[in-house]
This record gives sequence, C-alpha cells and structure tokens, in this order.
Amino acid sequence: MSAQTSSTPEFALRLEGVALGYGDFTVLRDISMDVRAGQVVAVMGGSGSGKTTLLRAATGQITAQHGRVLAFGQDIGNATRDEVQSLRKRMGVLFQQGALFTDLNVFENVAFPLREHTRLDETDVTERVLDKLDAVGLRAAAHLKVSEISGGMARRVALARAVVLEPELILYDEPFAGLDPISLGITARLIRSLADRLGCASVLITHDVHESFAIADQVYLVGRGKLAAAGTPQTLSASDDPYVQQFLKGEPDGPVAFQYPETPAFQKWLSEQKRRKA
Ligand SMILES: Nc1ncnc2c1ncn2[C@@H]1O[C@H](COP(=O)(O)OP(=O)(O)OP(=O)(O)O)[C@@H](O)[C@H]1O
Ligand SMILES: [Mg+2]
Repeated sequence: MSAQTSSTPEFALRLEGVALGYGDFTVLRDISMDVRAGQVVAVMGGSGSGKTTLLRAATGQITAQHGRVLAFGQDIGNATRDEVQSLRKRMGVLFQQGALFTDLNVFENVAFPLREHTRLDETDVTERVLDKLDAVGLRAAAHLKVSEISGGMARRVALARAVVLEPELILYDEPFAGLDPISLGITARLIRSLADRLGCASVLITHDVHESFAIADQVYLVGRGKLAAAGTPQTLSASDDPYVQQFLKGEPDGPVAFQYPETPAFQKWLSEQKRRKA
C-alpha cells in the first residue's frame, strides 16, 4: 500500500482507446477518459448506452476488449486478483442496483467497510458512521432496519457506505435516482464537497443534466457506441452538435436513439415466438 500511495499517479482513472462489451457484443468503442484527484467527472448518456459497463471496467469486474484501463496508474486488465483487490480497496462504489444487507440495520450497513478494511475501535467506527449518515441526512435513522426505510433513503445509505472509507476514487452510478429535489441537491453538493475536502477523484454517472453540470469539472457524453462529446459543462452547453443539444434539452426527436436496437438475438427470439403461436 505504501509503495502505491508514495507514487500517486496523475490520474486516478484513465481509459486509453478502450472497447467494452460482453462476449462478442461490443457496447462502447474507442473510449479515452481521464479522471484526476479532486475532479468530479460526469458520465452521461441514454439508457443502455454503456455507462454502467464503463464503471464495471473501472472496478475490474469486466476486462477491456481493446485498449487499457488504468486505475491509479496500474493496468487493471493485467493485474492479478490480489492486485485488483488492493486497487478496489482504494475505490468506493455506489452501484446502480446497490443492494444493502437486509439482515443488518442502517448503521451496520455503513459500518461494514470499516469493519472489513480497518482496525478502528468501536468509538471511531461509531463516530465515522454517524458522521457519514449525518452528511446524507440520516443520522437519526441509524437504528432502523433496511425493511423500515424508503427507496430514496436506501440510496442515501448506500451512498454513505460507498464513501465511509474516504477512498481516493469514488464511482457513483445514478446517485440521484429516486431522490426528492431537496435530497438530490444535497447529494450533489455532498459529492462536490467530498471531492474538494478529500481530494478524491469522482466519476458521476447520471441522467441529471442540471445537477451534474452544476458540480462537474468535465462531462463525457456516450452514445451510439462511442464517446459522443466531452468537455467542460460550459463547452458542452455552448456546443451546436445536434446530439449534445438533444441530450441536454431532453428533446424526443433527433439523433439520440430511444429504441433499444434490434439485434440478431432479438430477431431469432421473435421468430421463435411467432412460430410457437402459429
Ligand atoms: N451482463 C451483461 N451481459 C450482456 N449484456 C449486458 C450486460 N450488462 C449490460 N449489457 C448490455 O450492455 C448495454 C449497456 O448496458 P449498461 O448497463 O452499461 O447501460 P447504461 O448506460 O448503464 O444504462 P442505464 O442508464 O439504463 O443504467 C446494454 O445493451 C445492455 O443490454
Ligand atoms: Mg446503468
């Protein structure tokens, strides 16, 4: 760990000409992206465009079909299982389907990474957990069972759990989903203040143009299987690219596809359905 932190690389996360997908299906190609310490980088794009896939590549859950994914300067595709594990310890992840442990209460869910990865005593654990729950407005919900909290509250507990270790790189997959406007604004400010206070690098996957443009340093827009646009919120807002403008304005008509594209696998399934009915 000391060897890794002493040579802290310039980029917490770097993608170099990366292609990503599943089996022989390629979701995204030719993606290059940099995330530095202290930066909030927003990744936006339509549903199914490959945002979560990108996050899976950053954590080493999937390997790139082409190109390199560097986490803290190390090529995660060439790393051993142990090396991937130690890189993962330096990341906090808020998964899109971030399930909480239903047999643990709110407090124990947030305490879990601390108990797994640190030797903090109970007093420090309590202080750190209540501090993070306070940041998401749920200090007084610490004792509740997971079955006793709402969907939006569960998202905020998962967020507190993702940041409790104060990691160097935090990956947020749809942190605003299911939040009311006030919680959403507070969560956005929390993401920004964690980046500023801890100097951590943040990747923010979201559909929320307004909030992400308010807090992001860089925005990457993915679509049509590639990087559709990248730049600061100001440059993207001023872009006259019809794809960028349609996405930012949420207009129904334009180059951004709404329908999931038809694949040979779908055609095969459909003809089997029809044959069964005939
Ligand atoms: N485990 C998997 N195996 C095969 N295909 C997958 C798998 N996970 C996702 N896909 C496909 O990869 C594409 C991108 O999915 P992904 O989850 O990355 O999209 P997304 O941009 O995160 O969408 P959303 O905004 O809806 O969360 C989709 O076509 C999806 O069907
Ligand atoms: Mg997703």
